[in-house]
Amino acid sequence: MYKQIIRPLLFRFDPENIHLFSVKFLRYLFAIPGVKWLVNSVYSYEHDALKRTVFGLEFNNPVGLAAGFDKDAQMLDQLDAFGFGFIEIGTLTPQPQEGNPTPRLFRLPEDKALINRMGFNNEGVLHAVKRLKQRKGNILVGGNIGKNKVTENKHAARDYEYCFEALFDVVDYFVINISSPNTPNLRDLQEKEPLKALLSRLQDRNKEKSQKRPMLLKIAPDLTNGQLDDIVEIVQESGLDGIIATNTTISREGLLTDQDQIAAIGNGGLSGAPLTNRSNEVIAYLRQLLGPEFPIIGVGGVMEPQDAVDKLKAGATLVQIYTGFVYNGPGFIKKINKAILNAGI
Ligand code: FNR
Repeated sequence: MYKQIIRPLLFRFDPENIHLFSVKFLRYLFAIPGVKWLVNSVYSYEHDALKRTVFGLEFNNPVGLAAGFDKDAQMLDQLDAFGFGFIEIGTLTPQPQEGNPTPRLFRLPEDKALINRMGFNNEGVLHAVKRLKQRKGNILVGGNIGKNKVTENKHAARDYEYCFEALFDVVDYFVINISSPNTPNLRDLQEKEPLKALLSRLQDRNKEKSQKRPMLLKIAPDLTNGQLDDIVEIVQESGLDGIIATNTTISREGLLTDQDQIAAIGNGGLSGAPLTNRSNEVIAYLRQLLGPEFPIIGVGGVMEPQDAVDKLKAGATLVQIYTGFVYNGPGFIKKINKAILNAGI
């Protein structure tokens, strides 16, 4: 029903407005007694073989919601009812910020893709903390953290540290996001020296706590093998717990959408089907470098249930979805979990 009726209707409107509308709609809908139970019983899918223990956390299933969808932790209880195994909030920054001017989110239906240049629009980390303290459910939540646009790279570590401290008691794991293409120069933090400095500073803070949080790094798909080698070395040196591969790409290769239309859209990160292969290549390359056990969360272009199976086969420990959720609707999570179960992975 989603693909035949709801999606054609939703896709007639501006993508960002529809997103904002959906947030409000879900919140009103779930305020009706019994709705959460009903949604949960329709969409959730449980099976012992889907359970995973990764970096010390118990996941009900290996399918998560990627960062950017619920940046401000506004819909955790609602999204939980759709059957995700975990949800990543953020990217959050210390101060609230508006992000880039609109329009900044575009659909490429022919390519089953999105282009976004949101630019870390968020209400600021403290708002999210407040909501997380009030939440009712217990789904695993990752805190994806970044820096404000106005913060120069030489002071970036301060922003990450601020978010880390603010979120420490209310999230289950952290993601250090240095891979968004939409904050000027952010990706420069993926270079060896700044990355080492950032990670060691955050890990120092983490070690001061009585119970450390798993720390993950989210990387771009546009890195060369040489850069991936450096990142793996630094991740291991800093004692990180996992890598999330990958964020959106700045590449526009192989798209079916009219070139003039793509040029008119302009800058931004591309997600969805055109990212599937590159993301899997990065995962496979990392897996070979990191050995069989090191946790990798695979994300990028899971548009069909089989794509998630392929990601796990390429070496991912868990998977996340964003664009595939927009294109396939809420039934997609259950379908992916069934495919994973059938594949016996
Ligand atoms: C994103 N993504 C993202 N990632 C991140 O680390 N922080 C963020 O704030 C955002 N924001 C964001 C907004 C929008 C509109 C999109 C489409 C994506 C990237 C996302 O988490 C994921 O890594 C990529 O989209 C690739 O996965 P999919 O979409 O191909 O499943």
